[in-house]
Amino acid sequence: MNINNTVPIDFRDPQYDGLLSRLQGNILKGHGRESTMSIFIWFRGGRVEKARAWLREFAATKVTCMKKQLRETEVFKRNHIPGGLFAGVYITAKGYKYFGHELDGFDDVPFKNGMAQSDLNDPPTARWEAGLRGNANNEIHAMILLGDHDEERICKAAKEITEAVESLGKVLTVEYGRAIKNESGDGIEHFGYVDGVSQPLFFTDEINAYKNNSFGILDFDPFAPLSQVLVPDPLAGTTDAFGSYFVFRKLEQDVQGFKKAEQELGKELEKIAKAKHVDFDPERAGAMLVGRFEDGTPVVLSETDGMIGSGTANNFNYAKDTDGLKCPFHAHVRKSNPRTNGKIDEHTMARRGITYGSRQVNPAFEQSFAQMPTGGVGLLFMSFQASIERQFQFIQRGWANNTNFPVPNTGIDAIIGQVPAGAAKTSHGKYAVDYGKPPLSGPFDFKLFVTMKGGEYFFAPSVPFLTEKV
Ligand code: HEM
Repeated sequence: MNINNTVPIDFRDPQYDGLLSRLQGNILKGHGRESTMSIFIWFRGGRVEKARAWLREFAATKVTCMKKQLRETEVFKRNHIPGGLFAGVYITAKGYKYFGHELDGFDDVPFKNGMAQSDLNDPPTARWEAGLRGNANNEIHAMILLGDHDEERICKAAKEITEAVESLGKVLTVEYGRAIKNESGDGIEHFGYVDGVSQPLFFTDEINAYKNNSFGILDFDPFAPLSQVLVPDPLAGTTDAFGSYFVFRKLEQDVQGFKKAEQELGKELEKIAKAKHVDFDPERAGAMLVGRFEDGTPVVLSETDGMIGSGTANNFNYAKDTDGLKCPFHAHVRKSNPRTNGKIDEHTMARRGITYGSRQVNPAFEQSFAQMPTGGVGLLFMSFQASIERQFQFIQRGWANNTNFPVPNTGIDAIIGQVPAGAAKTSHGKYAVDYGKPPLSGPFDFKLFVTMKGGEYFFAPSVPFLTEKV
């Protein structure tokens, strides 16, 4: 099967049946469930055969293949019957070694070395949350992702897994994801911005829907070939069996700190605007940090929020904003996807994150700073890619943390930038107070309010590997 396809694929075409039933779900399209549980597992020495047998059985009976997930989505669209339990299995380099497999067939160096060895300016592992550091020898072997709309069903499934693992090794931690929404029903992250909008799209129906919303003019083409996220599973022992490299990072958000700093920045820019006798809507301060207003309106397209279709808007690029006078260079979405040629590039990954932590006050409602959390909430960042080195890691290290990208002296990404140990934890971006007009004011210090709490690199193996070869 050619995965370097130049046009989107129609998943109803029988020629893809084999590929989609051998591929785990969630890779080519998000599973869409609103609750998730990520169960991190370490298997004990001497239990290899039992662990292997259990994982094979789990894969055969519980893992959701891409084909099943797509069929469930169709049923949901037609009849509004939500899909059942979603389950996925991801294995670390140490996990493969535990099961006696060589890693020669895996090309990705960061995967083989593990996240703790990657040079991303992450906090030292001693400061990661205990479960995400692995066992006493810093080993995590696998992660099982469960997703469901039905709380009782997901809890039951997680209980069964954790009980089974007791005799095989140890559950290191369970990370709970729960989607949060704004008043329009769009998924948001904890700072209040619509998230999960910009994605590589693989299927004809998605591309057609996108084109219909774009009135035929494509300023950004989200089409991606399957090879954007798939690689042949080197250990599947059969053809047309693909897998994907998987990244998991727990990113804590200080919501109160961010919202206060965002307001301060707004006031500062408003002062400058007043002196110049121009209007400035303080909401635009946050939009210039993220690159979109809270409702998803891209700031490069509009000076104010409220664009029709803002929650799904993705048809834009920065070709007419080469000086960063509408969307600043250090804004999160511009740093993490410069959209240079108006299409997906070799660095784009499929993002599948979900928010975690509960809030005392529903984030969809207006609230005072005192009602906002300073910790305990954030994003369980997850992504699939064909290469961690070229995709996730390149975006975090080569772009977000790089003060000279996309232009010299840009500063780091205002949301996810990370600095070397000992350096001031702040971004230094410049902002146009008069929308679209020079000069840029600043740089202004804007503190960083996202803290990495741990994570790991995995491979999402093909279904045949899990059921027969693990
Ligand atoms: C707590 C941490 C994070 C927050 C609050 C956050 C927030 C957001 C928001 C609000 C968007 C805009 C909506 C969208 O286009 O989907 C976005 C887009 C994006 N984020 Fe993040 N994000 C976080 C972590 C990360 C990380 C760790 C990476 C990768 C290193 C990343 C990469 C991206 C990319 C590639 C986009 C799409 C940009 C585009 O195509 O325009 N994000 N993020």
